[in-house]
Amino acid sequence: MNSALNNLPENKIINGKEISAIVKSEIKTEVDKIINSGRRKPGLAFILVGEDPASKVYVKSKGKACEDIGFYSVTERLPESVTEESLINLISNFNTDDKIDGILVQLPLPKHINEQRVIESINYKKDVDGFHPENTGRLVSGIKSFIPCTPFGIIELLQRYKIQTNGKNVTVLGRSNIVGKPIANLLIQKEFNATVTICHSKTSNLKHFTLNSDIIIAAIGSPDFLKADMIKDGAVLIDVGINRVEDSESEKGYKITGDIDFKNCFEKCSLITPVPGGVGPMTIAMLMKNTLDSYKKIIYP
Ligand code: GUN
Repeated sequence: MNSALNNLPENKIINGKEISAIVKSEIKTEVDKIINSGRRKPGLAFILVGEDPASKVYVKSKGKACEDIGFYSVTERLPESVTEESLINLISNFNTDDKIDGILVQLPLPKHINEQRVIESINYKKDVDGFHPENTGRLVSGIKSFIPCTPFGIIELLQRYKIQTNGKNVTVLGRSNIVGKPIANLLIQKEFNATVTICHSKTSNLKHFTLNSDIIIAAIGSPDFLKADMIKDGAVLIDVGINRVEDSESEKGYKITGDIDFKNCFEKCSLITPVPGGVGPMTIAMLMKNTLDSYKKIIYP
């Protein structure tokens, strides 16, 4: 648990770091069995384009998780100037590589590259990010598919903490393809039965929605955006934000903060995910889960 959480009542914290460690250890147990039986390891290919510092950190953490779990992984680093054609050629090679079960192209991509075209060039059966239209379409239709890792991590946290969604009002702040849209689509399905509102930058009277919400999922990328006067007593707060803000007291000169004003909301909420140590680690754990599922051909037999 991070040091800022010391002295706070543990029973209000949704500890993503702890749950992600459990999920990863469950996966490792399965992978150990696979390897001991003489079969090949599950394999994941990462493609990192350019020098974005946050993307480099994410890909490094994902590679480290593969190593810890016992997956085979390979990281291809391409220069910022790479052509869309070269990138798609590299993806085509991984599409037919028998050692590779999952392909992850770290986003965002440089402006001269058409992100959607790149995503669509990935074999959807190896699309462990769940961004290919085959997988997004299936998700919306309630058909088995790869689920994008961050929404999948949120679902895992809700389930492991036995947070009821049946008949609950959920507000999702943010309409991204990576988080907002998929989590909203998942929670309206019969398995979860939530009533979901998606709010975004053009929503009028946002407070009207948040004050009426049992669960709020904040994924807008705006530091400390959700304040205590915007939530009702006992709300469950899920913070997807990972924002770098200046901090002269930190050695690095910055700190990572979420989209929810944690200090301000802590008293009033019933449960909250911290940043760091909440949703972030779950994203990586669920990427490992998707890769193992791909290896086992669970989604596409
Ligand atoms: N950039 C931010 N989040 C993600 C993610 O989950 N997957 C990929 N590929 N890129 C991202």
